[in-house]
Amino acid sequence: MREIIEVEVRARTVDFGKCETELLALGQFSDAKILDKVSAELDRKLDGAIERLIKLGDFKGKEGTSAIVYGNGNIGAKRILLVGLGERKKTTLDTIRKAAANTANKAVSMKAETISLGLHRAFGGRFDLGTMGQAMAEGTYFGSYRYDEYVTKSEDGRLGRLGVEVIDSDSSKTRKLNKGLSSGAVIGKAQSYARTLMNRPANVINPAKLAAAAKELARGFKSLSCTVFDEKQLAAKRMNGILAVGSGSQNKPRLIVLRYTPASRVGPHVPTVGLVGKAITFDSGGISIKPAENMDQMKLDKTGGVAVLGIMKAAAGLGLGARVVGIIPAAENLPSGTSYRPGDIITTFSGKTVEVQNTDAEGRMILCDALHYAVKENCDVIIDIATLTGACKVALGSHKAGLMGNDKRLIKQLQRAADDSGEKVWPMPSGDEYAKEMKSKIADLKNIGNKWGGACTAAAFLRQFVGEKKWAHLDIAGTELFERATEYSAEGSSGFGVRVLTSYLMSVAAK
Ligand code: BES
Ligand code: MN
Ligand code: ZN
Repeated sequence: MREIIEVEVRARTVDFGKCETELLALGQFSDAKILDKVSAELDRKLDGAIERLIKLGDFKGKEGTSAIVYGNGNIGAKRILLVGLGERKKTTLDTIRKAAANTANKAVSMKAETISLGLHRAFGGRFDLGTMGQAMAEGTYFGSYRYDEYVTKSEDGRLGRLGVEVIDSDSSKTRKLNKGLSSGAVIGKAQSYARTLMNRPANVINPAKLAAAAKELARGFKSLSCTVFDEKQLAAKRMNGILAVGSGSQNKPRLIVLRYTPASRVGPHVPTVGLVGKAITFDSGGISIKPAENMDQMKLDKTGGVAVLGIMKAAAGLGLGARVVGIIPAAENLPSGTSYRPGDIITTFSGKTVEVQNTDAEGRMILCDALHYAVKENCDVIIDIATLTGACKVALGSHKAGLMGNDKRLIKQLQRAADDSGEKVWPMPSGDEYAKEMKSKIADLKNIGNKWGGACTAAAFLRQFVGEKKWAHLDIAGTELFERATEYSAEGSSGFGVRVLTSYLMSVAAK
């Protein structure tokens, strides 16, 4: 089986003209009237090749575009990649992350083994250099990622390794950039790790296999520990929501609990964060079976749970100053003679009873037990992440995740983390009006609402299992997948959730 592309990131002080590299990437805004100092100097050495290209209208600096100028022996680089940054006033930190992703994606496609990034130059003092270093590192992991571990023919000779350097001619700048590179590499690596697990199909990853992956992850860090509850232990604990959803499959359900404990003690003002991730290793819908079209995409219904694995890896790699409990309920939702059925009434871990009206609304059935577990663990803040509803995908498409919750400050913190990480969110309601729709006549709750607002009623269901705890919910149905490749990424899993929630943890951790 092929390993994913290994990425190595470092910073180097070198003159832009002298830098020997396969590909030197520089940014260009669409509304910049002239070339910046570095590009102009390179252009002189290239006898005006850049200016000619721009004059011909072959490159306008639009976001997502790029153009290659070949070296002529007078500069160290074999190629220069001009990367479009769009309008200057629309710049965000994600502009630079995407520019790095675009560069790395191109490098892998053209089999360039080393890339040198001078993308930060164009941004001037807009962002702190460390922050830009982090974003560039994250972007190169993101853009170079390919999922091809089961492709046995190797005629394409895909790169095994990509060497990335962030360069500047000023050593004090390189030093500052370098500060963010290591965190960016930890986060990028954690996201790629998660993307591979997410992309693996359901015949490869089932609940027990996911649990084994979590155990293996924990073995790699002193600060991580992992406990797994199998179906017998779930029965002993009366986690009947998880058991009901898993009852149709030979692959029995699990509850995976990962604990991150910082090396040094953290003060009482730092919250213990519970991260709850939905891990349905395959969602056929169960007895309320889904239509055949695109059902293969339901291997990605474990994305929330796997994102939590990636976040725990990042937390441990960064040595964050906050306690984190990762709680991952894992089950396979299949129809069979042992499946749970529409009409069943389940007594969940919390004691609340739920009337099952649709076995395809299975995410909330496993999450309610996991959320109650997080409450019993005494987490100060609980955040769940789940590919929960097709309704969320209808509402927001694939660009932003739905964000619900019961605490204004927590919502704000997550919105800020989303802005910083480039994994975008949009606020949606989940209050009493929606909760009312989830009342059953014959049990405490039912598992589906009326026809409309499905993302909101699903969140309103979950809300009833967190008691008085501060809670937020990310519905990532839609954002978990790139149906087609883009300038910034190959197709398949997007790894959504790893960056935004790691960014949140970094913001609340003791510095
Ligand atoms: N995993 C799906 C939601 C989903 C849909 C994720 C499309 C990604 C893309 C979830 O378990 C589900 O089936 N939800 C149902 C709920 C309904 C029965 C109330 C849905 O959205 O149709
Ligand atoms: Mn479903
Ligand atoms: Zn599902």
